[in-house]
Amino acid sequence: MNKSIVIAVDGTAASGKGTLAKKLAAHFGFAHLDSGALYRLTALAVLNAKGDPRNEADAVRGAQSIDLSLAGDQAIRTDVVGQAASQVAAIGAVRQALLDFQRSFLKSPPGGSPGAVMDGRDIGTVICPDATAKLYIDARPELRAHRRWLELKGMGIARDEQGLLAELNTRDAADKSRPISPLKLAPDAALLDTSDLGIDAAFAAALALVSPRVEGALRDRHRG
Ligand code: CDP
Repeated sequence: MNKSIVIAVDGTAASGKGTLAKKLAAHFGFAHLDSGALYRLTALAVLNAKGDPRNEADAVRGAQSIDLSLAGDQAIRTDVVGQAASQVAAIGAVRQALLDFQRSFLKSPPGGSPGAVMDGRDIGTVICPDATAKLYIDARPELRAHRRWLELKGMGIARDEQGLLAELNTRDAADKSRPISPLKLAPDAALLDTSDLGIDAAFAAALALVSPRVEGALRDRHRG
């Protein structure tokens, strides 16, 4: 069987990696998984059960009981759930519990697709170090906070932009400094700063960065 093609998209909170990952998946006809949703669903399960997201037993129970049908639910997009997601994500046993799902998604992308795009924090470093192409997406914190503010507003959730900025900064610092699977630039990842780019320009830049490797891998498969 052919090895599937993988585009790993890592980056800071609200950097636009999810939007770019979705657009890349649509462009190539690949499957897409937002791995952050797995940690957010875990956090939601813990909070709903009145557990403590920093407690290993509570967090692992949460990871084992996630309901994937809620991945598109607004309930997981709040900053409270985001903060709790970052706490459960620092626990090795939680990451371990979510590992198989992510690796099998990449190995056999749903729908028989030849490839998958996965966005998160450790996709190019831990989940799939031999990914076909890797991106690391970043943007200035104030812009990311503004984008998150707009996104939440669009969902009817009114938030204070300064509060969101503080939350993003706290979460980035925690995600970058944790000992297990920290957010970092993989040596072979292409860095894309979207601060001064609109969605279309950011997508064009992302596509230009991954296309040579992805097109090459697609050609190899056809030659097969
Ligand atoms: O949407 P946003 O960029 O704010 O965050 P997310 O991608 O939904 O991720 C929420 C939290 O889950 C992050 O702050 C990380 O702590 C954690 N996460 C992780 O540790 N590893 C991943 N592959 C994805 C998310």
